[in-house]
Amino acid sequence: MRAIRQDTHGSPEVLEEVELPKPQPGLSEILIAVRAAGVNPTDWWNRAQPMTVSGLPLILGWDVSGVVEAVGTGVTLFKPGDEVFGMLPYPHGVGSHAEYVTGPARAFVHKPAGIDHVQAGALPLAALTAYQALVDTADVRPGQRVLIHAAAGGVGHLAVQIAKSRGAYVIGTASAAKHDFLRSLGVDEAIDYHTVDFTEAVKDIDFVLDPISRDTAARARSVAVLRRGGTLVSILPVPVDPAELADIAERGIRYEALLVEADRAGMQAIADLVETGALRAHIEATFPLAEAARAHALGETGRTTGKIVLTLEETSAA
Ligand SMILES: NC(=O)c1ccc[n+]([C@@H]2O[C@H](COP(=O)([O-])OP(=O)(O)OC[C@H]3O[C@@H](n4cnc5c(N)ncnc54)[C@H](OP(=O)(O)O)[C@@H]3O)[C@@H](O)[C@H]2O)c1
Repeated sequence: MRAIRQDTHGSPEVLEEVELPKPQPGLSEILIAVRAAGVNPTDWWNRAQPMTVSGLPLILGWDVSGVVEAVGTGVTLFKPGDEVFGMLPYPHGVGSHAEYVTGPARAFVHKPAGIDHVQAGALPLAALTAYQALVDTADVRPGQRVLIHAAAGGVGHLAVQIAKSRGAYVIGTASAAKHDFLRSLGVDEAIDYHTVDFTEAVKDIDFVLDPISRDTAARARSVAVLRRGGTLVSILPVPVDPAELADIAERGIRYEALLVEADRAGMQAIADLVETGALRAHIEATFPLAEAARAHALGETGRTTGKIVLTLEETSAA
């Protein structure tokens, strides 16, 4: 099979297409012929240096949409020919940027018939992150005030839609040029973070999703707009000083740092939202598998809207 492999860490050019033996499904695993696979910031960060996965050679990719080719012993949920999507167990299940990948059957669900593999391949990691933050962690309720930073990004644009599906009042930050896009997703207020200080524009927030704050000062700005009893979920894997955590707790704010987990229940909830028309990925660009380096270079600009997806043969465009 063809796979995108790196033998060293570095710039996108370290990604090379190689021929490897087709893997076999182990106990409780399925073998999937990959039709589309999203590219996420964790892909380009781990390409550049060891972050959440180490060890070389390395095949990146956690998102999968494809067709079950074979099932391992013990699998009852799927049979060959089934169309499935899901996220390989993060971080060590990595390896979907290839023609075939194996993964635990229970990381996957049936792909909704109404979306193609590009749509389905865009969703798992980013949508699970948003779902696990908004629903599993904070149980966002109707009428609650939700602030989504980087609302036009891969996670953010799905978080907006999931929050709206929960009946929340949603405020999103993005550059002004992306505000029409945010409104198309259903945001109630869009804030241009370049020209507006969000701490002066919003208050009494119940939940903040924070994919951007790397230091105490930045996090303090989100804490400042939360009401007592509110929740701040950071999805940036940066260490936080215990004194800062104590200060946040004293203000009556719950702080959580979330790392996405493979999760069949979450994937089924995402599939259900897709089926009802409440959730859809915006596709910034697709690239054939062989052009993974171009996909990484585009993603690394940090300016993309929605998702970037690698495609394999037999995949239709979104
Ligand atoms: N913990 C986890 O499990 C987990 C899971 C998924 C992602 N993450 C992390 O979450 C972050 C976001 O991921 P992603 O996939 O959404 O990334 P992405 O798609 O690459 O994000 C790009 C978007 O970020 C926006 N942006 C950048 N800086 C901003 C700022 N200061 N304020 C508002 N918007 C800003 C950009 O909009 P503009 O052009 O308008 O600036 C752009 O639309 C990454 O650091 C990623 O590693 C963590």
